[in-house]
Amino acid sequence: MDTIQKFSRTTIVLHWLVAASIIGLIALGIYMVETESWHLYDIHKSIGLLAFVAILARLAWRWRNGLPQPVRPMSRIEHVTAVAAHVVLLVLTVVLPLTGMLFSGASGHGFGVFDWQIFPSHEVAGQAVPLSQRWSDIGQTLHGFLGYLLLVLVVLHAAAALKHHVIDKDATLKRMLGRAPEST
Ligand code: HEM
Ligand code: HEM
Repeated sequence: MDTIQKFSRTTIVLHWLVAASIIGLIALGIYMVETESWHLYDIHKSIGLLAFVAILARLAWRWRNGLPQPVRPMSRIEHVTAVAAHVVLLVLTVVLPLTGMLFSGASGHGFGVFDWQIFPSHEVAGQAVPLSQRWSDIGQTLHGFLGYLLLVLVVLHAAAALKHHVIDKDATLKRMLGRAPEST
């Protein structure tokens, strides 16, 4: 279990596994859309679905463990902001892949993990035909918007972690890096 001095290995591994996947998926998502690299779409969906498993495991872990307690006494406003930011990050990591699945499923493209098809494509003469144009549009708009929103929040979140480390010189970042409190 997590304590104020030390995070459990599960917390640390899940945080960095999900963080690396999310940062990679945002970069890949924006790149493939901007450059119309259609061959990357299946890779993005496959990694997104695998990340979703880690995201759900992390959510369950946080539900059991609660959110991190501050490493030092903080003002109420600072604490409330940190809790709100973590809750929003957790919720967005769950909702974003769901909107991707909504778009891919409703647009008729389908999705799966590499060769394992989870939601079949809906094609006529080799062309994807939407199952529902309305839900496809809603999924696509939400996935794009929330993807960029998450990017902004992740930048702010990483900046806050660096501020703790460089300006406040507290153990917030070291704790998430698994460093023992003696080395702070
Ligand atoms: C370079 C990138 C990142 C850095 C430096 C970083 C750093 C940290 C640190 C130091 C904490 C502990 C905060 C505390 O003790 O109060 C934390 C917690 C957290 N981070 Fe990050 N983080 C990064 C990326 C991400 C990403 C991409 C996400 C998800 C979108 C994320 C979501 C969270 C959440 C939800 C928590 C709350 C604790 C938990 O669920 O494990 N972080 N992060
Ligand atoms: C946490 C996981 C995910 C993240 C962070 C993420 C992020 C992104 C981002 C930032 C974009 C670019 C949006 C744009 O430029 O409009 C994108 C595009 C896309 N994503 Fe994801 N995604 C994730 C999971 C998924 C999943 C699970 C699927 C489907 C199974 C999916 C399907 C797509 C598709 C089809 C596009 C292209 C959208 C378009 O053409 O407008 N994504 N994603």
